[in-house]
Amino acid sequence: MSRKAKIIGIGSYLPSETVSNDDLSKILDTSDEWITTRSGIKQRHRAADGETTSDIALAAAQQALGNAGITANDIDMIIVSTTTPDLTFPATAALVQKKLGISHGAAFDVQAVCSGFVYGLSVASAMVETGQTERALLIGAETMTRLLDWEDRATAVLFGDGGGAVVLEATDVNAESEPHIIGSYLRSDGNLTDLLYVDGGPSTTGTTGKLRMQGREVYRHAVGNIAEAINSLLQRHALTVDDIDWFVPHQANKRIIDGVAKKIGLPPEKTVVTVQNHANTSAASIPLALHELVKSGRVSSGDLIMLEAMGGGLTWGANLIRWA
Ligand code: ACO
Repeated sequence: MSRKAKIIGIGSYLPSETVSNDDLSKILDTSDEWITTRSGIKQRHRAADGETTSDIALAAAQQALGNAGITANDIDMIIVSTTTPDLTFPATAALVQKKLGISHGAAFDVQAVCSGFVYGLSVASAMVETGQTERALLIGAETMTRLLDWEDRATAVLFGDGGGAVVLEATDVNAESEPHIIGSYLRSDGNLTDLLYVDGGPSTTGTTGKLRMQGREVYRHAVGNIAEAINSLLQRHALTVDDIDWFVPHQANKRIIDGVAKKIGLPPEKTVVTVQNHANTSAASIPLALHELVKSGRVSSGDLIMLEAMGGGLTWGANLIRWA
């Protein structure tokens, strides 16, 4: 018998305003045809004026707590994965703690850009397994549209805002088939920073900066890195691609998702794709897609779910979940 973490609740939130590709073609030299062909994106959600990452995180968190049948008083750790914090400090997790009306437990942010939820789930499950928390709230939330250079058509069309959350609880696991977070695989290569970064920060420019990306180079690294993470994680746990019931990738680009699925040999019917509706919501994309899958009613208890992501850093990784 070993102490593990299992997911007991999930929620998500999207700002009400949607922005279509045609809407963007009115302010940028672009077209629905170019965006759809290159990325699969048809629309994205945009936060309202004054709506912050912590507001989005709170809405997703409240839904996840409700889904778990518990209240904020029952959790003792809040982790927010985000690259668009409300403020440089305190952590967005501390702001969420305040908005949830609690003052016990711990709260901190994880920064791994688009890999934020994968990194966050690894950290949160390790915290549960080592007894540092009984019930943790993990949130991926972003206001990516605030980080974009709206004069750069190559990046402005690719991102959106939103949030998703899960509640993790300690559980005693006797068999691999019981619901729990099986494991995670994390990687980074800081030598590839220049491919995807924000050109500002407190200790450089003193400004927030804007997102910069060498899209073609990021694309070139994505499929290989992600496939390596998935295969390594499967191997570590003596599982194969055929064991995977559901593949929930980071939603950056339909071509990357299809390329990874093809490379590792996963059929389209097992792959969850939401990028057409949400665009790239960075650390929020996986919990948003996972919640879509759960809401569809297609997941059964004991299903094996593979999550994966790659993002700025470069960072990349994967998680394996035996669903509750
Ligand atoms: N509308 C119209 N034309 C555009 C646009 C646009 N929005 N953006 C760029 N173009 C033009 C370029 O100016 C260029 O024109 P030129 O040939 O006259 O110079 C042409 O389209 C081709 O540009 P490329 O950048 O070479 O286009 P590419 O085919 O590589 O597609 C894309 C760009 C979609 C960004 C692709 O490289 C990609 O998907 N990269 C992965 C990036 C990504 O998903 N990042 C997310 C973060 S990382 C992650 O989450 C995995």
